Amino acid sequence: MKLEGRVAIVTGAAQGIGKAIAQKLHAEGAAIVSVDLQGEGADATAAELGGIGIQADISSEADAERIAQTTLDHHGKIDVLVNAAAIVPFVPWDEVDFAYWRKIISVNLDGAYLVSRAVEKPMREAGYGRIVLISSNAFYAGTPNMGPYLAAKGGVIGLTRALATELGKYGITANSVAPGITRSEGCLATPHKDSFDFVQMLQAIPRHGLPADIAPAVAFLASEESGWVTGQVLIADAGHIRD
Ligand SMILES: NC(=O)c1ccc[n+]([C@@H]2O[C@H](COP(=O)([O-])OP(=O)(O)OC[C@H]3O[C@@H](n4cnc5c(N)ncnc54)[C@H](O)[C@@H]3O)[C@@H](O)[C@H]2O)c1
Repeated sequence: MKLEGRVAIVTGAAQGIGKAIAQKLHAEGAAIVSVDLQGEGADATAAELGGIGIQADISSEADAERIAQTTLDHHGKIDVLVNAAAIVPFVPWDEVDFAYWRKIISVNLDGAYLVSRAVEKPMREAGYGRIVLISSNAFYAGTPNMGPYLAAKGGVIGLTRALATELGKYGITANSVAPGITRSEGCLATPHKDSFDFVQMLQAIPRHGLPADIAPAVAFLASEESGWVTGQVLIADAGHIRD
């Protein structure tokens, strides 16, 4: 198993891609800290995987610090952070008011920064860490009705590169996984649910993407053996985007 003895924080672990990632990292041997705004969902994933659940808002500085501190209190270390929590919106361009723009940037970009910053110090002191930030292939595709989301996910890719540069000398890698459209609860609750058949025509592998399709790419980047890979974006989308 790739992650035996490792401690992994997964945000957005109540459902969808985050939950599938938590399940995969657990199957690879990691102790999982399941974080989500939905406390009951975080606890349900924790109950399933035998770890701890934390109700937290990643866009809150205090909550991000509490996620790291609670993990250290329970496990004494943080080996892996996977930030999957995000808002997946469907917002026509002329309906994006500034408050909603700020909300999406706050969760999807500021949140990625805050949780990365909160885990960086204990990882640096340990001389080891794996940070995996979930971005999106929509950034490359320029998907319609996702203006603030594309801006935030482009920022996540920039943040990934910055973290890789700043933290490499401490034994910490930072990479991003960019999923294609995936049948998560969040995606299926929006009009994006009607796009699967069209997008499938653009994919090399002609079927709908599932949360479990994304998790193995994350598990590789969360593992020790990925140590020579940093600052990269791994697009996991059945060959839709060829960057
Ligand atoms: N589903 C897709 O088609 C798709 C495609 C590309 C990228 N992604 C990315 O994958 C990740 C997971 O998305 P998903 O489709 O599984 O979405 P989802 O909506 O099903 O799950 C997202 C989870 O994040 C949690 N969350 C939202 N805001 C939070 C906050 N402020 N603090 C803590 N938790 C919060 C939600 O409660 C939810 O459990 C996201 O980063 C998303 O942008 C999804």
